[in-house]
Amino acid sequence: MSEKEKIKKIYQKKIQSLIKLNKAYFQKDNPIIADSEYDELKKELSSYIEKYPYLKQIKNLDTIVGSKPSKKFKKIKHTKPMLSLSNAFEKNDMIDFKKKIKNFLNVPTELELSSEPKIDGISASLRYENGKFTYGLSRGDGLFGEDITANLATIEEIPKNIPSAPNVLEVRGEVYIGKKDFEKIKDKFANPRNAAGGSLRQKDSKETKKIPLKFFAYGIGEISSSIFKKQSELLSQLKNWGFPINSKCTVIKTIDEIQDNHRELESLRSNLDYDVDGIVYKINNITFQERLGSTSNSPRWAIAYKFSSSKASSKIKDIVIQVGRTGAITPVAKIDPVTVGGVVISNATLHNEDEINRKDIRVGDIVKIQRAGDVIPQVLSVDKSKRLKTSKKFIFPNKCLCGFPIKKEISMTTKKTDAVRRCSRGYDCDFTAKEKLKHIVAKDSLDIEGLGKKVIDNFWDLNLVRTPADIFRLNYKKIEGLEGWGKLSVKNLKNAISNSKKIVLNRFIYSIGIRHIGQENAKILAGFFKTHKKFSELFNLKKRRYILTNLYDLDGIGETQVKSIEDFFSNQKNTDIIQSLMNSLNIEDFQIINKKGKLSNKNIMFTGGFNKMSRSEAKALAEENGAKILGSVSKKLNYLVVGNSKPTKRKIEKAKELNINLLSEEKWYDLLNR
Ligand code: IVH
Repeated sequence: MSEKEKIKKIYQKKIQSLIKLNKAYFQKDNPIIADSEYDELKKELSSYIEKYPYLKQIKNLDTIVGSKPSKKFKKIKHTKPMLSLSNAFEKNDMIDFKKKIKNFLNVPTELELSSEPKIDGISASLRYENGKFTYGLSRGDGLFGEDITANLATIEEIPKNIPSAPNVLEVRGEVYIGKKDFEKIKDKFANPRNAAGGSLRQKDSKETKKIPLKFFAYGIGEISSSIFKKQSELLSQLKNWGFPINSKCTVIKTIDEIQDNHRELESLRSNLDYDVDGIVYKINNITFQERLGSTSNSPRWAIAYKFSSSKASSKIKDIVIQVGRTGAITPVAKIDPVTVGGVVISNATLHNEDEINRKDIRVGDIVKIQRAGDVIPQVLSVDKSKRLKTSKKFIFPNKCLCGFPIKKEISMTTKKTDAVRRCSRGYDCDFTAKEKLKHIVAKDSLDIEGLGKKVIDNFWDLNLVRTPADIFRLNYKKIEGLEGWGKLSVKNLKNAISNSKKIVLNRFIYSIGIRHIGQENAKILAGFFKTHKKFSELFNLKKRRYILTNLYDLDGIGETQVKSIEDFFSNQKNTDIIQSLMNSLNIEDFQIINKKGKLSNKNIMFTGGFNKMSRSEAKALAEENGAKILGSVSKKLNYLVVGNSKPTKRKIEKAKELNINLLSEEKWYDLLNR
């Protein structure tokens, strides 16, 4: 090899590692080496080019989006949270979405929907004051965004001055990179979305400017004077103000139209210059949007109907079982690896025993696999014509991986046998315990970055963690020596763990993973307990009994939840584990947002259906006016609002016995409007 060739080779190798490091940082937000080492490598590459200019022809260093983006963007609170969307995958999900909304609003007619392609990019919020672009934020965690103003300002499609805008205007939309533009830089990023995200998070906006980013507006945040009655009008106004609006946005109504629309855009998809991963449907009427409001994560008035992603065929090599954090047993098909939508798949979920029986899925079968977005790939159907005569029906195991018998339970609400089998040993089952740990460190729980599922598996195998409290006494010396870990990543992990110690009560309650206690129920419980001290009373048998009877008063907490809490805390191992975890944490009191209103300090309960709105909306309205909604009739109740349609007699009688004010629907509106 000539000297020149040798140098070329070294240069190429170094360039490859720079690209790898960029990927680790931009896409995974997980730097492999220290900043100083990174800078060293860049310097070295520059000096190579200076010395041997011919290297530029191989790869010009300048074209590599290289200068390290800083993680230290200023954080700014969103004036209105940037929520995410719930997903629909099939027609039935859309039917459900429409039905729920009709029930909530209690309206008889079909509602108009604004249909908008779901651009697969990075969302951003742009703030204009007196018509001038003042700052722009990334979504961040939805409550706080990163100040990426300088980078957003490099996007030509984003107007910088809007003379006719209201005094305060916040425009929300998606930053993306065109597929053609992506072609030019594709060796540096896995896909266009990552390219857009990476460029937006560059510290040096000159680097961002080199990437042709684009923008589609789809909504607003704060606005000083709102004049819109419909989402579709809002889109037209945004267009008039100079924002790009996707040309495929339309207004439709029926399920058939939704399905046609879906098929149409899906067929156009590959010809568009941007990635779309579905269609966002929004209730077009803004008053209805306001009445519907949001749950903790997503608005009730919108949904993302994802495209049914790619399908592929493969052979089932084996069927194994997996244990979830609640002990639920899920059968999983191990298949011959196959690429579905660009990702290699070797496992697919079979959901439960009934599903296997219904589809008669067997080991050795050739099956059709589907992968939709970030959900687990699933087995759609079996090609029975390819089945061997010798194939045998799959017999579902009757033991958990831990060896304990697994049973189907009878649901308390439906009184039917569950489709799912469970291992009921909780922390005593190693397989369940490991999943519980994964839940505790996850984003909605303690949110420990760097401690993902794979890391938990690894740490578990090495006996570094067994219970949640072990997370706070990790052997970092040992971790530092593990493959894939270094000084910097251990330091990051240490920081993330230390930061996770401060946690609000509702998040804590959710994170300990009591069955049937999701984020919403955890909030209701936190509102009841208020402090971790009070919550700790659940550890005491006598106090627990008393608390449990009181929990029935909470709206949203029923027999299923109370029984589940009782089971959880009657287990000595659970209480030991949770007490020990609590000792490692700094649990903050639940912040009661004391809504001051006409109904402050009033306890209300609703029974029966109403004429003008649904019970859910009535409850939401009462809460907005400061009231607390109770779930059972007790002395604490101030009003029982009785609707026309099928109110519960027992509740009315009990309320009368206790001398509680009974209100008709009309009287209830009077009370609100007083
Ligand atoms: S509306 C509260 N409309 O999808 C409403 N989102 O999974 C929230 N997205 O974070 C967003 N196109 O980044 C909306 N036409 C569209 C959208 C859209 C793409 C993205 C957005 C959001 C994510 C939600």
